[in-house]
Amino acid sequence: MIAESFKPNFPTQIIEEGKVKVLVPELKAFRKLPSDYAPSKAPVFYNPVMELNRDLAVLALQSYQRRIEHKISVCEPLTGCGLRGIRFAVEVEGVGKTVLNDINLQAFRLASYNVQMNDLAEHIAVTKKEANFVLSSHSARHMRFDFIDIDPFGSPVPFLDSAVRALHDGGLVALTATDMASLCGVHPRACLRKYGGNPLRTEYCHELAARLIAGCLTAVAAKHDLGVNIVFTHRGEHYVRVYATVKYGAKSADESLRKMGLIMHCFKCFHRETALGLFEVEHSRECSECGSRLRDAGPLWLGKLFDTGFCDTMEQESRKRRLRFGAKIARMLSLIKSESSAPFTYYVIDKICDALNLPVPSVRAVIQALREEGFQASSTHFNSRGVRSDVSAGRLTEMLHELTKTAAPSAGQ
Ligand SMILES: C[S@@+](CC[C@H](N)C(=O)[O-])C[C@H]1O[C@@H](n2cnc3c(N)ncnc32)[C@H](O)[C@@H]1O
Ligand SMILES: [Zn+2]
Repeated sequence: MIAESFKPNFPTQIIEEGKVKVLVPELKAFRKLPSDYAPSKAPVFYNPVMELNRDLAVLALQSYQRRIEHKISVCEPLTGCGLRGIRFAVEVEGVGKTVLNDINLQAFRLASYNVQMNDLAEHIAVTKKEANFVLSSHSARHMRFDFIDIDPFGSPVPFLDSAVRALHDGGLVALTATDMASLCGVHPRACLRKYGGNPLRTEYCHELAARLIAGCLTAVAAKHDLGVNIVFTHRGEHYVRVYATVKYGAKSADESLRKMGLIMHCFKCFHRETALGLFEVEHSRECSECGSRLRDAGPLWLGKLFDTGFCDTMEQESRKRRLRFGAKIARMLSLIKSESSAPFTYYVIDKICDALNLPVPSVRAVIQALREEGFQASSTHFNSRGVRSDVSAGRLTEMLHELTKTAAPSAGQ
């Protein structure tokens, strides 16, 4: 019995998160220098900063379960200490068969111990295999999962093929990506290799990152005659996470591929536009506002990043629970809902004002002024200084001049 024989040979501590208690590495023992990133130095990965991410995963999974209204099977093939999967089993109603896996022996032992400590040995199987092997061995129809959570170091791409093959029709997959330098355009070639799309170092690179991940998933799923539907997306400090359901059938795959395209950006005047389609897409190479050369991001996903109904249920589920980050989650979900049907990309007010050498007005004032002129305008959870709007970059620039001129005297009062 692992629980009885398990004696970790590294410092550990019991922590409480959500409704569970688990044994994790005692991080301070692994932080020798202030710059050390302790979760990666410990023999088993555990990151307390990802609690909010795990909270949202619990809410998303519950929202999904309420939608499909039957018992769901869950797989977390990169589980670390098992905390995330254990939370699913304990905190999400309707979770049945659960498989947790990690290739690291210490992680496997710790996750097994935590499963037993939470009295879940009958519900959760823990394995020590390569993640793609676990997923591939569940690709037969009767073996598949309803939910697969891919939470790797770096990119989720190496696991996409086997993940989509191991999902039931209508199944949900969650993908975390922490390779932000690639996705946000610092290493564009790495992004092209991994995600099959070009990134851009724009102020809205985090949205582009989510769209590149979703686009890559769409392309991988299409190979297997599966379509995708993105139900929820969020950005964290050092990652982007995308939740998608898959639908079987070549027609669904074709429909999803039709939502792929390009976002073109002008680095001179902040203008951006989109071109839908993967092949023979007619689009201008020149900025319609200033004539400069446009740069392309993509191919990437141009469909929705959020499903409002799905977010509504997450909100309701959040109110039923006592989560440590409950207030933050409520604010985030409300922001996400407000941006769910807003235009593509966002303007970052500070960046434009910087370029124009203007004082920076509040985001609220900009949104109000835009709405008064009849434009759509909303904030975005991707960037607290961002504004989504259908206003052109040219008109926004003029408005910022006007706004800061009229605001200046009152600011000094
Ligand atoms: C970011 S951590 C997972 C954290 C965990 N999901 C959580 O919420 O606490 C990634 C884990 O994947 C494991 N891993 C890395 N590559 C793997 C592979 N190819 N197959 C299985 N596990 C792998 C690592 O040992 C590590 O524990
Ligand atoms: Zn331009």
